Amino acid sequence: MSPDPFPLGPPPYPLGAPLARREGREKVTGTARYAAEHTPPGCAYAWPVAATVARGRITAVDAAGALALPGVCAVLTHENAPRLAVADDPTLSLLQDDRVPHRGWYVALAVADSLETARAAAEAVRVSYATEEHDVLLTAGHPGLYEAEIANGGYPGTRERGDFEGEFAAAPVTVDATYIVPPLHNHPMEPHASTAHWSDGRLTVHDSSQGATKVCEDLAALFSLDTSRVTVVSEHVGGGFGSKGTPRPQVVLAAMAARHTGRPVKLSLPRREMAAVVGHRAPTVQRVRLGAGDDGVLTALAHEIATHTSTVKEFVEQAAVPARMMYTSPNSRTVHRVVPLDVPTPSWMRAPGEAPGMYALESAVDELAVLLDVDPVELRLRNEPDTEPDSDRAFSSRHLIGCLREGAKRFGWLPRDPRPGVRREGDLLLGTGVAAATYPVYVAPSSAEAQAAADGSYRVRVNATDIGTGARTVLAQIAAAALTVPEERVHIEIGNSDLPPAMLAGGSMGTASWGWAVHKACMALRAQLRHHDGPLPAGGLTAVADTRQEAAERSPYARHAFGATFAEVQADTVSGEVRLRRLLGVYAAGRILNSRTARSQFIGGMTMGLGMALMEGSRLDPAFGDFAECDLASYHVPVCADVPQIEAHWLDEEDPHLNPMGSKGIGEIGIVGTAAAVANAFRHATGIRLRDLPLSADKVL
Ligand code: MOS
Repeated sequence: MSPDPFPLGPPPYPLGAPLARREGREKVTGTARYAAEHTPPGCAYAWPVAATVARGRITAVDAAGALALPGVCAVLTHENAPRLAVADDPTLSLLQDDRVPHRGWYVALAVADSLETARAAAEAVRVSYATEEHDVLLTAGHPGLYEAEIANGGYPGTRERGDFEGEFAAAPVTVDATYIVPPLHNHPMEPHASTAHWSDGRLTVHDSSQGATKVCEDLAALFSLDTSRVTVVSEHVGGGFGSKGTPRPQVVLAAMAARHTGRPVKLSLPRREMAAVVGHRAPTVQRVRLGAGDDGVLTALAHEIATHTSTVKEFVEQAAVPARMMYTSPNSRTVHRVVPLDVPTPSWMRAPGEAPGMYALESAVDELAVLLDVDPVELRLRNEPDTEPDSDRAFSSRHLIGCLREGAKRFGWLPRDPRPGVRREGDLLLGTGVAAATYPVYVAPSSAEAQAAADGSYRVRVNATDIGTGARTVLAQIAAAALTVPEERVHIEIGNSDLPPAMLAGGSMGTASWGWAVHKACMALRAQLRHHDGPLPAGGLTAVADTRQEAAERSPYARHAFGATFAEVQADTVSGEVRLRRLLGVYAAGRILNSRTARSQFIGGMTMGLGMALMEGSRLDPAFGDFAECDLASYHVPVCADVPQIEAHWLDEEDPHLNPMGSKGIGEIGIVGTAAAVANAFRHATGIRLRDLPLSADKVL
């Protein structure tokens, strides 16, 4: 890899330029089509039936009343639904048996000529159950907790270095605190939706997904087809935040119903059912212990997680993983304990692991700073490791200190009176807080095709997904830079599983993964063009590339993005309401490829972190076993009025150990660190350390 294949400069070298997103006009004029907005001729509509018990077996399904309604085509149940091959992901084994693993699990599907009839039919289906006792409540000492072998992301569940217990006991200054993050829900604006139809043994679906390649592969496996007989289109996607990273029930149910009825079928999951069937961030009870010398340098660090999973499959929120690489400490223990409960299956939500884990770790670091009376920025500088603590590998680049310093300067961190409760405006107490952020650099194999046409235009094809990030735009920039042509001459095709297969939009690795393949294909095309004499043939010239080899190479470097988040909050001493005043983040995430769309992703993540700090949270109802908050009236996310001032900045970071673009991911790091910065600011304002998110008025008073 040459160190910098993209000399920065005026067009045609558009990398980093703040180009507006290519599909922006279609989106704001309503011409962009989402999965539920495709209506093939003869399309029928489906509405699911969710289990009303938390655990048990279906003893009978009475669909007679539903089938008697005019316009109803079918009611699918475990007794008549098409048989599926055994799924890799057991949450997709739908209507295959009588087991009810949690409340909200789908037990039937009504299909009708209209959406209204399908809904009425679903409500008319009578399901009888043999119920069993259920347990949905995670506690720190739950008797079913066991040490997980592997946590999400393939990380070892437990890591130990040195002698944590001995050094912690001997440390002159210690923090021992337990933090709680409740279940959280992704709630993308566009619900999970699919339109499916079969024709000549071929299945075509429009699906709201973060990765049509994976949906195509899984559907092919479930319906025992070759992938060449399945096309999945995910052209525009209204957010996912991880919940659309894997195929979800809607796509399997729509395909089953279409096969069963012989008609195209559309299924859009009702918002109120999403909480149970498209994943959630699992709750975590996190004990953090820090032992330090009087100078604040850590000698012992333990981060131990208790979390839940479902009885359907094991998913372990890897919240202790960032503690393995953030701060120097020769003695460390990081453990994940999990208990399978009768709950919906948790899954990815923006920065799984890092978001809740860094809330706890960065809160504990703040507690240590208060104990030592050391400025929290300064305390972090004192604990900066030379190499990645858990692996001893060199960092490919680590500019946490730069982010902290730049952020402190821009925010006006100093001078700061560290005493709580001293800044008062009437009934309001004001405070400021800081936290560090980090997110790993991942990359996954992808393939792409680049074509030069005789008219001087270019076409790049890759099954990337735009979940609202601006993927088309940045891929055009990467292609144009590689081809050294103006960006407007590059046409981008994404969002269809018939295109060259590629990584899903997740793990903050979309752009790096797709972009690498696009870059490689474009460089190959450029080489072909250089050796081509005369006009291009009618079909143009085409080059294809894949990055299986590049992506498989294990880097000798520890690769992570870093950031620092600063917050100012006000706490109302009368109402208990906590509000944000200012939020500022500075990130070091490699080269920023489009400053406009990057800024949007950073502030989007930061806003989600603000929600996690102040208002978001789902509660499992112990009696009924479902989430109490299942719509946007009860699950509160921040609105514009909650975010009066927000700024995202970044350092110009050059890292030659990443990919040809020199980029790290930016989709998730914004959420990491924000909740801790806000909670630390609340503590500074009031002197009260709340260790249980969100910081809602009921807890504050
Ligand atoms: Mo993201 S939670 O990796 O889609």
